[in-house]
Amino acid sequence: MKALRHLCLTLLVSLPLGVTAQSAGPGKPADFLDKEFHRQRREALRQKLPAHSVAVLFSNPLRNRANDVDFHFHQHPDFYYLTGYREPNAVLLLFSEQQVINGVATQEVLFAQPRNPQRESWTGKRLGEEGVKQHLGLTHALPATAFANLKLDTAAFDQILFLELPHDLRNDPGDKADLYDLVAQFRQKIGLKPGQDFAHQELYQIIRMYGGQAGDRVQQEVRRQMAANPDLGSNVFLKSYAEAKDASARAALVANMPAEKFDLSALEKILAELRETKLPEEMKLLRKAIAMSAIGQVEVMKAMHPNMSETEVQGIHEFVYKKYGAEYEGYPSIVGAGNNGCILHYIDNEKPRLGNELVLMDLGAEYHGYTADVTRTIPANGKFTPEQKQIYELVYAAQEAGFKECKVGNAFNAPNTAAQKLMADGLVKLGIIKSPEEARRYTMHGVSHYLGLDVHDRGTYGPFKPNTVITVEPGIYIPEGSPCDKKWWGIGVRIEDDVLITENGWENLSAAAPRTIKDIEATMAKPSPLDNFKLPELR
Ligand code: GLY
Ligand code: MN
Ligand code: MN
Repeated sequence: MKALRHLCLTLLVSLPLGVTAQSAGPGKPADFLDKEFHRQRREALRQKLPAHSVAVLFSNPLRNRANDVDFHFHQHPDFYYLTGYREPNAVLLLFSEQQVINGVATQEVLFAQPRNPQRESWTGKRLGEEGVKQHLGLTHALPATAFANLKLDTAAFDQILFLELPHDLRNDPGDKADLYDLVAQFRQKIGLKPGQDFAHQELYQIIRMYGGQAGDRVQQEVRRQMAANPDLGSNVFLKSYAEAKDASARAALVANMPAEKFDLSALEKILAELRETKLPEEMKLLRKAIAMSAIGQVEVMKAMHPNMSETEVQGIHEFVYKKYGAEYEGYPSIVGAGNNGCILHYIDNEKPRLGNELVLMDLGAEYHGYTADVTRTIPANGKFTPEQKQIYELVYAAQEAGFKECKVGNAFNAPNTAAQKLMADGLVKLGIIKSPEEARRYTMHGVSHYLGLDVHDRGTYGPFKPNTVITVEPGIYIPEGSPCDKKWWGIGVRIEDDVLITENGWENLSAAAPRTIKDIEATMAKPSPLDNFKLPELR
């Protein structure tokens, strides 16, 4: 009924709003990654495929916002990395050896949204299969409507690799080859019954990636899921993993895991290896995204005053990004004054007046796919109070300790270990906690993640490699009502910078955003072009 109403409204009023065919090509900015980059990435992935295998990747779907309005489309980062394609409703197949697809010998084929002049007149130009070949350089492309008839002879492949299939797709009745249809057709091709899932492969994936020496928690999770799901309870491998006596028994099992015909972990692992280290073309875009995000912090520091709202602060950052040509924010912007700054991912940003609070601002521009992730915490009135200063200085020192661990070969967790120790000792010294073990109450999150096409980017979490970008972002959050002196309540501080790990050390890519108390207060004392930007009162 809802679908019918949707269709009627669509025909009467308009086509759904919100999708734009964003494709590299004529009339687009010239500094996108070029087709040679994406070709090389596909080639690098194929080199890592097991023999006699195929990797199947789906684009993102178009998501509905409300009624006949859709969200702005954002491509799946893996799909973008491998193709440069920026439209929904597509599927990519990469073969380890050449195959003949509809009479064409090829190692790759992209099933693309078909051209549709009527829809394109509402939502923008589509590349279509010819455009995909011409502008993106795929050797073979077909319309997505041809995927239904593709004979995927599963017996001819030793392994079929794909990522977790989306479970939450909407079926557009007017489109016979939207992502809902493509995923359903794929499930049928590989013999998956409707509703049948991959619970055991999903567990295999977790075990393969994290379940060896350090897999205590993974083992507990396996036991929990086996108890809850009888299908898993009878799986021989999972049974022996659940019963493994110690870390070395677990590691031995992980080393000898059976290869799966339908494998949900191999592709994820390959993509993590590829995306963890950045190529020079990627660094150019990532540096731009980070530079404009740091400049956004500077402009807000100059413009901020206690009468501003959290939303207005957000708007200034995002205006700076747009002025530099960034398409999106890399994640929903976080602007939290006072106690709101103690909510780690506070995105409501609705406090009407900052007052004299500390304001935590965690925002990042996304520029041509690559996202920054920069946080500064500043006093709305331009001057830190003594308590704010003490917490800020502790977080600052923890970040410095974290930076020192950003060295090739160090464990991924090294910055976190150093920063957490410093904060725990410091919180004891300030009398906020009695022993370092209590610190995690106020320092709830880890200090680093990879950064790139995703804000929490893919990576192996192994020892640091050169040309990797990570964040170093310690934080202390003391919400109102915490069991400590009231003078600390409502102080939330995070300082987050984006760090490139190089052969010889590290580079702070977001250093242009002031970070010391002295520099922040000096920047906040400067005039802003927005000081004289007055709008009429709304009645
Ligand atoms: N902005 C999200 C994060 O810092 O991880
Ligand atoms: Mn972060
Ligand atoms: Mn952040």
